[in-house]
Amino acid sequence: MMTESEEILLLRQQLHEHNYKYYVLNSPEISDQHFDELMHRLQDLEAKHPELSDPNSPTQRVGSDLSNSFETVEHKRPMLSLSNTYNLQEVKEFYDRVSDGLNGEAFQLCCEMKFDGLSISLHYKNGSLERAVTRGDGVKGDDVTENVRTIRSIPLILPKDADYPDEFEIRGEVLMPFSSFDSLNQEREKAGEPLFANPRNAASGTLKSKDSRVVAERKLDAFLYYLLTDEEGQSHFDNLQRAKQWGFKVSDATKLCSTLDEVYDFINYWDSERHNLPFATDGIVLKVNSLNQQRSLGLTAKSPRWAIAYKFQAEQVSTVLREVTFQVGRTGVVTPVANMDPVLLAGTIVKRATLHNADVMNNLDLHLGDHVLVEKGGEIIPKIVAVDEQFIDENRGPRISFITHCPECGAELVRNQEEAATYCPNDNCRPQILGRIEHFISRKAMNIESLGPETVDKYFSNGLIKNVADLYDLTYDKLCPPETDLFGNPLPMTGKQPEHLLERNILAGIEASKAVPFERVLFALGIRFVGEIAAKSLARNFRSIASLKDATLEQMLEVNGIGIVIAQSVLSWFKEEANLQLVDRLEKRGLQMQLNEAERANQSDKLAGMSIVISGVFAQHSRDEYKAMIEQHGGKNVGSISAKTSFVLAGSNMGPAKLEKASKLGVKIVSEDEFLTMIES
Ligand code: IVH
Repeated sequence: MMTESEEILLLRQQLHEHNYKYYVLNSPEISDQHFDELMHRLQDLEAKHPELSDPNSPTQRVGSDLSNSFETVEHKRPMLSLSNTYNLQEVKEFYDRVSDGLNGEAFQLCCEMKFDGLSISLHYKNGSLERAVTRGDGVKGDDVTENVRTIRSIPLILPKDADYPDEFEIRGEVLMPFSSFDSLNQEREKAGEPLFANPRNAASGTLKSKDSRVVAERKLDAFLYYLLTDEEGQSHFDNLQRAKQWGFKVSDATKLCSTLDEVYDFINYWDSERHNLPFATDGIVLKVNSLNQQRSLGLTAKSPRWAIAYKFQAEQVSTVLREVTFQVGRTGVVTPVANMDPVLLAGTIVKRATLHNADVMNNLDLHLGDHVLVEKGGEIIPKIVAVDEQFIDENRGPRISFITHCPECGAELVRNQEEAATYCPNDNCRPQILGRIEHFISRKAMNIESLGPETVDKYFSNGLIKNVADLYDLTYDKLCPPETDLFGNPLPMTGKQPEHLLERNILAGIEASKAVPFERVLFALGIRFVGEIAAKSLARNFRSIASLKDATLEQMLEVNGIGIVIAQSVLSWFKEEANLQLVDRLEKRGLQMQLNEAERANQSDKLAGMSIVISGVFAQHSRDEYKAMIEQHGGKNVGSISAKTSFVLAGSNMGPAKLEKASKLGVKIVSEDEFLTMIES
């Protein structure tokens, strides 16, 4: 009979293996349901045995909502970049330079995809992921280990039987596949949040998120392309094959070439074939394969002499501009959109392109009927880069200028000096009202799933709702009035009345939303720039809508993650009488306008301003629970010890290196018991 601790170890191993088969090999062996069952069993057992917690357990891939703060750490070896080439002539020049540098010795080039994401350096010790650092300035980067743990294709633990060195570093690219990028932007559009321009920005924004749960949700992926060990290896290509055997995701689009013609063939093939890949690439990387030859070629200050990037040309086509329309969003921002003759570009038909704002549009100097050049490079959303001047003649159409009045309600548009956006200032403009209601009911806000945009539109047109508070005044009779004759008299009841299940369901959804916690209500209000994370921070710090309403700019700026833009937006939102009335009505209808009792009971300022490092194994609570406690009492959990650390919360088995560093810097060590007394007293 297996003990529970043995079962934990077994489950971890099984889950790591299934994870690898699913996310690295793309060939799952068990059903999602079975995977979830194993995961739940492990979660239960780990909750029962906090002393066996492990940051690299598969359960840690879901992230936690505790605020991360990234520590800047120095790279063991600087992370260089690559010099770029843009045509085959420059590739030939690189080839000749290498050949000269090697005094005519034969050499091979390893050709790889250039992934369009952000580079990451991973450190493994005894087969376990120890640290993940962003490139930063090449010398120092951010420690993003917690976030990287949520990326399923990055192994947390390497298979026991693999022959990896005790310590090594491997570098690669974190990216967001197109499918994740599309669904993320769709959600953001619905929520009225700014869209990411391309998967690279989305991946980078995500990896630097303060909330590792957000990272876990956004489905990042990673390819590894550079192994660094102290051992003498033979070649770069061999290193990649070894890394692949240890469970890393290494691209199959990697080829050893012995002649320049083979290199050209590789480039030509992938120049078009890359459009069939499920993620963005922006070029090809060529690396001298032999590590000895790499060493003899050496480095320049910025990049190695043994490697180069060939960048793909962004695809460009010419088409005719037919019209510019103007869209009004939830927050009143007016966006110009170019409507063009449909044209095939990089595999998709393009007929619309955003022109972003008045400056972008005016700089292009667009005239009706112009031929325009449309490009799709790293940007997924096509953009007009210029007017195709060869087609301009004396019959050129009229210049297109930005509208002065809202196309929906006719209000005069406004633009603040320091902002790029132009607004419709009328809060009662139809798309703004509908957008606010749709945001309010969306999944991450009040989650009233039974109501959809069409129903909202219908109720608004029927005069049933004019704002989100009206939702809570809806009744069954209002939604399903008895049928009337032409004169408005109720028709006589005949037999059984129809049961309007849809409406019952909608009302039940609205009722249930009254239990949605304060932080999500705050997000649902749709205050400009207050996204999910800002709403959470504000809710936890101010605890109720009443104290948030009275907060000063300075008080808001003290909150982690709240900057001047958000703080000013909140301040001006609460200055509007209509918003105050709305909050008042929602509160009277029973929505949560403060933290609930359990959340409040757990809070204090006892650790305010303190930076606390957690280290070792704990007996009374899990590591995550301690992190939560630190936050609830106003402290900040940080990753590693520095002179600024207030104290180390130490369990048993605190690493000797940490102990030494703490005593060197004079940082206090606090035991579990001492800590609990400290926050309870
Ligand atoms: S090798 C010293 N290989 O391109 C070698 N880089 O401009 C350093 N990149 O910062 C990198 N795909 O983020 C290498 N297959 C690949 C790559 C790759 C994308 C990125 C990487 C690097 C940048 C250099």
